[in-house]
Amino acid sequence: MSIKRVLSGIQPTSDSFHLGNYLGALKQWVELQDGHDAFYCIVDLHALSAETEPALLRKRTLASAAQLLALGISPEKSTLFVQSQVPQHNQLGWLMECLAGFGEASRMTQFKDKSSKSGADSARVALFTYPMLQAADILLYQADLVPVGEDQRQHIELTRDLAGRFNTRYGQVFTEPSGYILKTAAKINDLQEPTSKMSKSSGSVAGVIEIMDTPEANAKKIKSATTDAGREVRFDEKEKPGISNLLTIHSALSGQSIASLEAEFAGKGYGDFKGSVADVVVEYLRPIRARALELLENEEQLIQMLHAGSEKAKKTASVTLNMAYKSLGLVL
Ligand code: TYM
Repeated sequence: MSIKRVLSGIQPTSDSFHLGNYLGALKQWVELQDGHDAFYCIVDLHALSAETEPALLRKRTLASAAQLLALGISPEKSTLFVQSQVPQHNQLGWLMECLAGFGEASRMTQFKDKSSKSGADSARVALFTYPMLQAADILLYQADLVPVGEDQRQHIELTRDLAGRFNTRYGQVFTEPSGYILKTAAKINDLQEPTSKMSKSSGSVAGVIEIMDTPEANAKKIKSATTDAGREVRFDEKEKPGISNLLTIHSALSGQSIASLEAEFAGKGYGDFKGSVADVVVEYLRPIRARALELLENEEQLIQMLHAGSEKAKKTASVTLNMAYKSLGLVL
């Protein structure tokens, strides 16, 4: 049996990744490096679909690379690269735009959410065409598995549809990928608004646990997380969204099952439980933050590592793009 391909991407749109990124996706990126041929991409072109400050984009791209390495992505085991350094992404992206229907693109919930926040008139065209570039990111590498959080499910479905449509019309070129989406932890919620997902664009900084935040700041955020009426530490997403979110976070980082956490904190109240969640999160993130800060001291080394990854990625990407061009009748 041939070894499976994995591809995923993350936007460099903030100074730090958050716990939702890590538990929903990046933790699986690290695990899937073993036993798979993995490609991981910092999707800087996607970041341009919203207003960006050039100096910040550069800084955040390097900070993303440092965090990915600190979290355990190994450039020896997987191909870690920057999207804008591999021009085949834009080239296949155009082909995907030529294949996708206006109607199906209009149904993407992320586009609807984001464009309604900024107002449809001021939303960029790229916000609308974004899922077709994302499909290209995935299909260029013939990925079998795409580890992402729940919010990306619809984009993966669109990618499968576009791959199938291309293959049927023009001949077999693309692997139809599957999402690799966990049952638990695929949606980590905001600590202040536990019914909405933890997000970079979230209004409440206090509800987002950032990998690069100080241990003290993160402990404080957890201790002031919104909880629910009552005292019982029990997993019940409907009645107790705040406590359920904290149970998911604790369990994913400590490896302790939710049932055993419920038993451990039976009769103890929320204060003790939050103290334990804070300890687990802070101790887990402490060495990761320290390592990322250390890596950021040598920008040149990070840039070289990314160049090497992008060169490797280009080799695979150009084979797929050529196949697609040929199938479409473009003269090579
Ligand atoms: P992005 O950059 O917003 O997020 C990166 C990853 O983190 C996951 N995620 C979460 N998971 C659980 N709970 C949360 N609160 C949470 N917030 C974010 C996301 O699902 C994602 O897996 N469109 C993508 C980037 C992308 C991509 C790709 C992904 C571009 N091309 C190709 C996979 C394959 C995005 O905006 O993710």
